Amino acid sequence: MARRDPHSWADEAQPRQQHLRWTARVDFPGRRLMGTAELRFDRGGTAVDLDTRGLEVDAVTTPAGAALAFTLGPADAVLGTCLHIQLPADGAHCVVHYRTGEGASALQWLSEAQTTSQRSPFLYSQCQAIHARSVVPLQDSPRFRLTYEAAVTAPAELQTLMAASSVDRTEAGAEATGRWAMQHPIPPYLFAFAVGALQSRDLGPRSRVWAEPEVLDAAAWEFAGVDGMLTQAEQLLGPYVWGRFDVLVLPPSFPYGGMENPTLTFLTPTVLAGDRSLVNVLAHELAHSWTGNLVSNASAEDFWLNEGFTVFVERRLLSVLEGPEAVALHAAVGRQSLDDAVAGFRSRPALTRLRTHLQGVDPDDAYSQVPYEKGYLFLRALEDAVGAVPFDAFLRRYLHRFAFQSLTTQEFLDFLQAELPEAFARVDVPAWVDGEGVPAGAPSLASARLAALKSFGLQLPEAAEARTFRPLEWQVYLGRLPRPTPRATVEALDAAYKLTASRNPDVLVAWLVPALSAGHAPALARTEAFLGEVGRMKYLKPLYAALLAREDTRARAEACFQRYRSRYHAIAAAGIETLLRRRAG
Ligand code: BES
Ligand code: ZN
Repeated sequence: MARRDPHSWADEAQPRQQHLRWTARVDFPGRRLMGTAELRFDRGGTAVDLDTRGLEVDAVTTPAGAALAFTLGPADAVLGTCLHIQLPADGAHCVVHYRTGEGASALQWLSEAQTTSQRSPFLYSQCQAIHARSVVPLQDSPRFRLTYEAAVTAPAELQTLMAASSVDRTEAGAEATGRWAMQHPIPPYLFAFAVGALQSRDLGPRSRVWAEPEVLDAAAWEFAGVDGMLTQAEQLLGPYVWGRFDVLVLPPSFPYGGMENPTLTFLTPTVLAGDRSLVNVLAHELAHSWTGNLVSNASAEDFWLNEGFTVFVERRLLSVLEGPEAVALHAAVGRQSLDDAVAGFRSRPALTRLRTHLQGVDPDDAYSQVPYEKGYLFLRALEDAVGAVPFDAFLRRYLHRFAFQSLTTQEFLDFLQAELPEAFARVDVPAWVDGEGVPAGAPSLASARLAALKSFGLQLPEAAEARTFRPLEWQVYLGRLPRPTPRATVEALDAAYKLTASRNPDVLVAWLVPALSAGHAPALARTEAFLGEVGRMKYLKPLYAALLAREDTRARAEACFQRYRSRYHAIAAAGIETLLRRRAG
């Protein structure tokens, strides 16, 4: 037995999946997919263990239709259910005939009323970290890359999209079947699709944006710079190998800011701030095309390899596009969120390591800003040790060496030691990788704006100055207010700067948290409305936590969650549920 990923039943000693042929029919009224998954392995003749979660398996056959013996194991709370299949002696294929379960953890089925247009239902998937298994039976570990082709049948009036190259679309009666191919081997968590009333607009030769018609103009404006970002990223990292870089704007319940699904990045509509102030999310997902999708973490224990590198590249791109001051502000906000995350893990400090040990731990529970911002600071420390030019060259060698592979933290460290020995010698690598918290002497970016903002403290900025504040400057200022924040400060700020009415959700949430801590009534009303409009966990978690932190709003948190939980994606609902239970217990 060689199960090397704590989040998968997949066994390295068994045949490995190479290619998936997936067919699915989307049943909106029944909220199910009826599917077949034909998997080709590198060899046959023996047993293979697949990951599933909530799937109802009707049969397992050969491609010719001969039955194959299979058993479903007990359901594990974190891993789901092992599907054990006996591959035929003379073949390396199996076909699983199945239906997705009720409440499949990757999927969100939205009713007409839950979309912006209010006219058509909507379905989308979110497979990272270990939810692909709730949609397709497969070896659901990033160590087991695969190519795929897919045929998805859905109501003809809707648009189906997949994170792969479109092959064709045929209509038959009330239904249409779209076909796609993913020719590069990807980790299963990058499997993704969406179905809804979507329209598109070209952004450049390699990019278009898809969105519900009501937000298409806003989205096309917000992301107009995508082609320039692509060109910058290629200069830094080498050719973009995925062909197209399209963007899909999801309904507001999408639980993340973005998800780097190959050829089709998924984004929350909350980045449509109207001033391009949140396009770093787009830069981040684009950066994953190299750090994450081309070179992937071997498991959720090495998640920082995906996110730390991607934040590093995101900020390199922003430095070119917006200048070093903007990067200093982003890094400062990131450092605040890192310190908050470390404080939040007081009772589980092992989760503040870059290399984590997650046997028995759900990756969604371990999720935090630590792999992002501590990972970023570690890479900055390595870069500072050798200089930017040698570090960029190292980054390109790393991407070249591990292209289309999934690697562990140890493999990265071995490569670092061999390829950048000066950095390895000068930086306390064990403290960064296996130590808890943030090592003393972590890099910090100095900037004139930052110094000015830090000098404010509780003092209100001068009106003339505050009117020039960019969203990030507000975030830095608000993030540094003491908690609980004095009521008088909060009231004066709201009166002067109308922060409760902010259109930038990053600023709004950075404001609502201290305002709630002060018991500011308008903030409470705004929070309750916002929690019903948006399902992005980055916003839900601090707002629910702020409601829970005060005796007089604790019951409101519970009431909001009961009212809104059916609007949230299953991953977000589970996350908030954990938060509520932890506070109650
Ligand atoms: N890949 C992540 C989202 C993710 C992580 C989904 C883990 C499921 C499990 C994505 O690239 C991401 O990091 N999104 C950030 C964007 C931000 C760092 C700019 C987010 O959602 O906030
Ligand atoms: Zn990311």
